[in-house]
Amino acid sequence: MDKKIKDRRITHCLLLPYPAQGHINPILQFSKLLQQQGVKVTLVSTIFYSKNMNKVPSNISFETISDGFDKGGVDEADNYKAYSDSFRKVGTETLSELIEKLDKQGNHVDCIIYDPFIPWVIEVAKRFEIVGAAYFTQNMNVNSIYYHVYKGKLQVPIIVDEISLPSMPKLEVQDLPSFFLTYEEDPSLVDLLVDQFKIIEKADWILCNTFYELDKEIADWSIKTWPQFRTVGPNIPSMMFLDKQHKDDEDYCVSQFKSEDCIEWLNDKPKGSVIYVSFGSLASIDEDQMKEIAYGLKNSGNYFLWVVRASEEIKLPKDFEKKSNKGLVVKWCSQIKVLAHESLGCFITHCGWNSTLEALCLGVPLIAMPQLSDQTTNAKYIVDFWKIGIRAKFDEKKIVRQEVLNDCIREILENERGKEIKNNAMQLKNLAMKAINEGGSSHKNIKEFMNDLFPLEP
Ligand code: UDX
Repeated sequence: MDKKIKDRRITHCLLLPYPAQGHINPILQFSKLLQQQGVKVTLVSTIFYSKNMNKVPSNISFETISDGFDKGGVDEADNYKAYSDSFRKVGTETLSELIEKLDKQGNHVDCIIYDPFIPWVIEVAKRFEIVGAAYFTQNMNVNSIYYHVYKGKLQVPIIVDEISLPSMPKLEVQDLPSFFLTYEEDPSLVDLLVDQFKIIEKADWILCNTFYELDKEIADWSIKTWPQFRTVGPNIPSMMFLDKQHKDDEDYCVSQFKSEDCIEWLNDKPKGSVIYVSFGSLASIDEDQMKEIAYGLKNSGNYFLWVVRASEEIKLPKDFEKKSNKGLVVKWCSQIKVLAHESLGCFITHCGWNSTLEALCLGVPLIAMPQLSDQTTNAKYIVDFWKIGIRAKFDEKKIVRQEVLNDCIREILENERGKEIKNNAMQLKNLAMKAINEGGSSHKNIKEFMNDLFPLEP
């Protein structure tokens, strides 16, 4: 550690993610990076969500605030608007109380790193004259789409077939975040996404979980739009990422699900042979689709490891074996360990941003089956822009049939195109590693951010 950094008064950052696993984990990974640099970090979540979190790393302080729905979180609210309104009102009070409490305990807060899904946090930071840093957990291209809706440059509901936005390839309607297409069901969900930009310019820093070399165009556009923008990712469990070692970093993520061990099962499988399937923490898969995946995997004749969350298990075909010579179904696993495993051949994914970054950092080729939210846009980039995966096309009922899935598996594991995709994935993996290593683009940006928080003496 830099001596000057070590000798100074310890900087204290509060990190406040939106209460959802896919938001908490990247912010937690970022907080671990700050902590390694000598910053004191306190992770904050809502009272309700904290009951779901299995554990927080022992060397990170943890506090809770209220969103006004301590018993049921967002599901207790009538809609996203009711939830956001309550979170803003109650959260502003309880966050302020927390900052005052910590101050009295001698833990003065110097900076709040917050999720723009809860944009009001910057106002609290300003009131306490604390540095406020917005941290985007999603793909910057997705954020840019929301920004253009906020600016009125893209109308929702969408009425055009093709969308042209600065620094992005042409997008078709189905490439846009899915909530635009289901706008009528709950317009307040789109408001939540678009409102991220209402007071974003007040933030002293705007950070994003991506790296410059992944998509220079959107990074350059972002910094032109907000001079305080910096890429600081990929913020994924770092020990795994660095050299594929299965070191124990059990603290690496917080989850409401308990991981089942499957590494032993993977250990005796040939190199590059296993298909890993997971649809993340939120997506609910149609029963018909579950059947197609089940028989698609079984009939492919390949080894497969499939994560089916407990709430989804009921949709598995009755005669489908959860453990056989070829396949293993688990309720949840340590995904990063699975992706880092030598036996892995490809990943059938919903294209959540965390899963995308994790696969990319470990050079794993993807078969894209986006389900909702930002996943549709991520899939477009995975397939057409970064070329690290192929898309499993759905039919008119929006179901990916088993034959299609089998073609995709063959293409990735057996064909020339699969090799090209693997090469592309390995190239991005190397770029990602360079970005976070000493002197890399994200590393430099994090240092710049840190020095601004607590300038080094000349
Ligand atoms: C959703 C969105 O799709 C995502 O893009 C957004 O940023 C957050 O909300 P989610 O469904 O949670 O996210 O997917 P993803 O972002 O991929 O995150 C899933 C996380 O759970 C990953 O970090 C993955 O490693 C972890 N995971 C998944 C496990 O640890 N074990 C599993 O069995 C499955």
